[in-house]
Amino acid sequence: PHIVALIVAAGSGSRVGGDIPKQFRVVNGRPMLAHSYATLSKHGEIGTVVVAIGDGQDGLAKDALDGLPTPVLVQGGLTRRESVHHGLEEIARQGGADFVLIHDAARPFLPESVIDDLIRALDTSAGAVPALPVVDSLSRGDDMLSETVDRSQLWRVQTPQAFHFDAILDAHRSWTGEEPTDDARMLMAKNGKVRIVPGSERLSKFTFSTDFAGNDMTPTIRSG
Ligand code: C5P
Repeated sequence: PHIVALIVAAGSGSRVGGDIPKQFRVVNGRPMLAHSYATLSKHGEIGTVVVAIGDGQDGLAKDALDGLPTPVLVQGGLTRRESVHHGLEEIARQGGADFVLIHDAARPFLPESVIDDLIRALDTSAGAVPALPVVDSLSRGDDMLSETVDRSQLWRVQTPQAFHFDAILDAHRSWTGEEPTDDARMLMAKNGKVRIVPGSERLSKFTFSTDFAGNDMTPTIRSG
């Protein structure tokens, strides 16, 4: 199959703070974006890697990806959903694809085995996501706990999320719901089946400034 990847890196990173957006901050010796870009662009089954970046970030992105295969850059949008949609339309303009892997730049450490599992899962479903079981107790409450939630069927869903390209493009073109937190949700709204493959703690998202402290070996573990 013809497989392309799309990394969304157009967020402002406002929860992290600092003077450059988090996706361009250095973690483990290279800009965050460069980690997943390198992994995806050197994967044997993936052709083009498209990167959605914010207004005026061309220079930052080119510097961050210096020495790697030249990226296809597209302008992101005001929300993550819009950034993904812009990327998908660019892929469509370039002739489309069989499969697309959509990934957050904020998850720099991407195990190759996750990519392999996702691609394989697309043989039997229109979508696939890496996910981890919830290990903490989950409770509802205000300032006092009121109810414990059964966690046995709950998952922490990560990226990359992999899809049959035409199905996810259609889901984006016709989306009218509230702002979704991921693309799997959008495929499911069109009755597309999304398979779960094993996720990885290494894939955790960098969200807060504390995530950047002491990340020489692994990121601070934080879901969301
Ligand atoms: O803000 P959050 O951590 O949910 O963002 C997830 C990913 O989506 C990040 O890689 C961020 O750069 C990207 N994003 C985007 N365009 C936006 C907002 C977020 O590409 N407007």
